[in-house]
Order: sequence, then structure tokens, then C-alpha cells
Amino acid sequence: MGHHMVFMLIVFLFVGLDEAHEKNRIIVNNQLGSGPSGIPLYYLCRSTYSEYTGTQKLTDFNSNWTVDFEESLFHNRLVWLCDLSFRTDKEYYFKELQVYRAASEIRWGQLRQWTCRIDGIYFTRDYNEPVGRVLDWKSTNL
Ligand SMILES: *[C@@H]1O[C@H](CO)[C@@H](O)[C@H](O)[C@H]1NC(C)=O
Repeated sequence: MGHHMVFMLIVFLFVGLDEAHEKNRIIVNNQLGSGPSGIPLYYLCRSTYSEYTGTQKLTDFNSNWTVDFEESLFHNRLVWLCDLSFRTDKEYYFKELQVYRAASEIRWGQLRQWTCRIDGIYFTRDYNEPVGRVLDWKSTNL
């Protein structure tokens, strides 16, 4: 086998291995209100890999912001932070929620689902497990 063939084989092997991995996923899920009177959830998320959503809103009940990504060997540990907020009688918010934090080794196929409800922020790492309440909203008067 020539050098060229060996090189191509290695490339295919890496591409193949890479495709075999499921990406990591963050979901920010709006369950603030049901029906057409859904309460908009505002989010602004950013990562230490320089990704930045700007301020966005999720209007409908059960709508999501989803991001799929891989951790990189060539960066420091990846962290994603989100500022979340909504308004009813007050402004409710949570700033710099750490929605994803890499471990010391690279991981694939991780899920971090953050479900926003009126009474707090709910979380699961597993599609087969229901979300559980983990955080309170902070609030300020309007
Ligand atoms: C948003 O994500 C939740 C949880 O994974 C899912 O049940 C729901 O169907 C998604 N909503 C939409 C509009 O895709």
C-alpha cells in the first residue's frame, strides 16, 4: 500500500469514528405558560468556544432552543452559560446559569435539558427521566 492509501485510510477511519459519536446537546425548554397566552422566555447563551446567541426569545409553550456540539481537544474545558428571564407580575431571571460544563475528559452524547416553569428551573440529563426542580428564579419588581 502506498503512503497515499495509508493516509486516506487514516482519514476515513477518523471521519468514521467521529460520525459514530453522538453530539452533546443542550435544550432550553419554555414551559412557562400554555396555549396562545404562552409567556415568552428570553435567553442569551454563550460558550467558552466563543459562541453567542444574542438575546432571543422562545414564545410558544414547549418551544426550545437546542444546541448540538462537540467538545474540542484543542480548547480548555467547554462551559456554556445562559441568562434566562421572563415577566409576569415581576421580572424573573437567572443569570449565568451553567447549562453545560465539560469534565476532565472529552464526552459525547450528553444531554442537559433545562425546563423553565413559573415556579422554578427544572433539569434532566436523560430523555427517559422526568425533569426535576433544581433552581429558584430571582426576581425584581417592574
Ligand atoms: C422541546 O423539547 C422537549 C424536551 O426534549 C420535547 O418534548 C418537545 O417536543 C420539544 N418541542 C418542540 C416544539 O420540538
